[in-house]
Amino acid sequence: MSDPLFEVDESGEDLTRADTAVAAQLSPAEKAATREEHVRLAEGALVRGDDLVAGYVPGVNILRGCDFYLQDGELVGIIGPNGAGKSTLLKTLFGLIPVRSGSVTLRGEDITSAPAHRLVSLGVGYVPQNNNVFPSLTIEENMQMGVYLRPKTFKERFDYVIDLFPLLGERRKGKAGALSGGERQMVAMGRALMMDPSVLLLDEPSAGLSPAYQDEVFIRCRRINATGVSIIMVEQNARRCLQICDRGYVLDQGRNAYTDTGESLMHDPKVIELYLGTLAKTT
Ligand SMILES: Nc1ncnc2c1ncn2[C@@H]1O[C@H](COP(=O)(O)OP(=O)(O)O)[C@@H](O)[C@H]1O
Ligand SMILES: [Mg+2]
Repeated sequence: MSDPLFEVDESGEDLTRADTAVAAQLSPAEKAATREEHVRLAEGALVRGDDLVAGYVPGVNILRGCDFYLQDGELVGIIGPNGAGKSTLLKTLFGLIPVRSGSVTLRGEDITSAPAHRLVSLGVGYVPQNNNVFPSLTIEENMQMGVYLRPKTFKERFDYVIDLFPLLGERRKGKAGALSGGERQMVAMGRALMMDPSVLLLDEPSAGLSPAYQDEVFIRCRRINATGVSIIMVEQNARRCLQICDRGYVLDQGRNAYTDTGESLMHDPKVIELYLGTLAKTT
């Protein structure tokens, strides 16, 4: 308990003994969210974040010792309440926020706080939740922006993207700004895919879309994953996300609360009660 990051305890109580007692009764999904289990399971991971502490304002940590890993070929979902730090975790993995302690690795290479352009050239694609297309450019121009580091590959990559999202081919000369929210989401994902990434980081790809489009996005994500792209997906639509992901993390207050297969988390009584409750009752 000498970790200075966790020394500030508002209640002033010594939690050491209570923590030990609680640890003995952890469910499998809670146990897998502990550091020891993470270290054991994250061996050889494609992307790995260890004990991450990061934040925006000096003195305020949003991620407070968060562990994460993605194995090659996996689709991993991150769910949790609003403000839990899900977007912050993605931004931290993509080097957009300085890491105060902990590390991020890609295929074992340290990429902690590496600049975004370097990560893109290493095969990491990031699609932020908002402002993720250039509205005044055409779809085709948006795709060209996506491949600016390797312009010669444009045609081959655009063909791949059109195969996934035929609409982007049909509307290639149209301005991205004229598209609906769902169509823009396709442009944003398509643009990230132009660089032939091995990992895609998606921040709430289904947010703000009609139910039909939401479903479409989840199906596309599975298809993209099936073409060999590993995916990290943050989602508000927790139940749907857990249905399609191989593994999931429940993030709460900047730390992993639970982690397991999507299927197990979806049926975990505690996860249902705390994080899927309302959804579970309505569906
Ligand atoms: N740019 C920012 N500057 C300061 N605080 C921020 C910023 N972005 C997010 N936060 C804070 O970080 C916390 C976690 O935010 P976020 O990672 O966006 O949560 P989530 O994606 O899980 O809803 C929130 O308390 C939020 O207010
Ligand atoms: Mg968010």
